[in-house]
Amino acid sequence: MQYAHITGWGMAVPESVLTNDDLSKMVETNDAWIRERTGIRERRIARENEFSSTLAVDASLKALEVANLNPNDIDLIICSTSTPEYIFPATACLIQDQLGATRAGAFDLSAACTGFIYALNMAAQAIRSGSIKSALVIGTETLSRFVNWKDRSTCILFGDGAGAFVLQASDNPGGVLSAVMHSDGSGGDLLSLQGGGSRYPATEETVHDGKHFIRMNGHEVFRFATRVMAHATHEVLETADLLLEDIRWIIPHQANIRIIEAAARKLKLPMERFVINLERYGNTSTASIPIAMVEAVEKGQLKPGDKIVMVGFGAGLTWGALAAEWTGPLPPSRKVYPRQYQAAARLRSIWLRIVRFVEGIFWGRYE
Ligand code: COA
Repeated sequence: MQYAHITGWGMAVPESVLTNDDLSKMVETNDAWIRERTGIRERRIARENEFSSTLAVDASLKALEVANLNPNDIDLIICSTSTPEYIFPATACLIQDQLGATRAGAFDLSAACTGFIYALNMAAQAIRSGSIKSALVIGTETLSRFVNWKDRSTCILFGDGAGAFVLQASDNPGGVLSAVMHSDGSGGDLLSLQGGGSRYPATEETVHDGKHFIRMNGHEVFRFATRVMAHATHEVLETADLLLEDIRWIIPHQANIRIIEAAARKLKLPMERFVINLERYGNTSTASIPIAMVEAVEKGQLKPGDKIVMVGFGAGLTWGALAAEWTGPLPPSRKVYPRQYQAAARLRSIWLRIVRFVEGIFWGRYE
């Protein structure tokens, strides 16, 4: 039997910080209201030359270094995102090319803020089945590109960032223990971004109607979130045959401190058992759980052997939870060069384009 261990982790956030005070100059809001109602103080905003793939590549390189792997050791890349760079090709393929992960299959997964839990579970299942040995699982978002900066009910909430985990097969028990995934499409209208898809392809009218912005019914999403967080946590513990007392840390989706407080009350757990960093990044959707985890590891909060639960909810509606035993870094077995691979990957990508062009001249015509 193979187990899927989390052996690498990394995060990347843009340098540019947007504080609540900055926002109060853009819309009618203020720092006190935002902090009291959401817990958020500031968020990161991608610069013009930062994209979902570039943040993901930064986070992935760090994760590969921790896991002691080169990009071409990876069998599968799953990129969870609600802000892909294009409808297609998949952002995962852009990441594959930028990293030089020459052996990896790559695809995007769309399950909004629950996406990282879905993606980790999919990768762990592929490892457990024996079909792959290693996977790179990424949550990345540039939500600032889809926020209506005139809508104070949404623009205060979201931020940009990426987190990445490496999963590796091992005979040793541990790693991802179990997961639950849920959806309820009847609530799809509560949180959506409708423009640019096949129902509303971009036209003057869709732009005029603001269909390319995030729309949300905050109250309903809040009610839904507080209902499902505790339930999904109990459910995943049951499937993993664990008790709440066995769990060292809960890593919740970082949407609103009041939602986390409500979950803590329902679970009868003190807030100290939750990893929270939303005050500095806001809601980075699918990236929020890995970013919170990476910070917890770097602070020394997570120790090898700790059992943890990640729990999230989001558009779709989707929700889910994943229980894992934290493995910690494996002892380095060899020297790896992920960053050098990345530099070579640029040349490789240019070379492949040239080859394709030349092949097209000689063999590309169908007569
Ligand atoms: N600044 C100041 N006032 C604001 C404001 C802002 N940014 N946004 C709304 N208000 C006002 C409202 O107009 C309302 O005024 P009124 O009483 O005069 O009508 C008042 O504040 C209360 O608004 P309300 O919408 O009831 O606030 P709330 O406490 O429900 O908080 C959210 C709003 C959006 C923060 C909250 O509903 C929420 O977090 N929902 C979940 C969102 C979420 O997590 N989405 C992502 C899911 S992955």
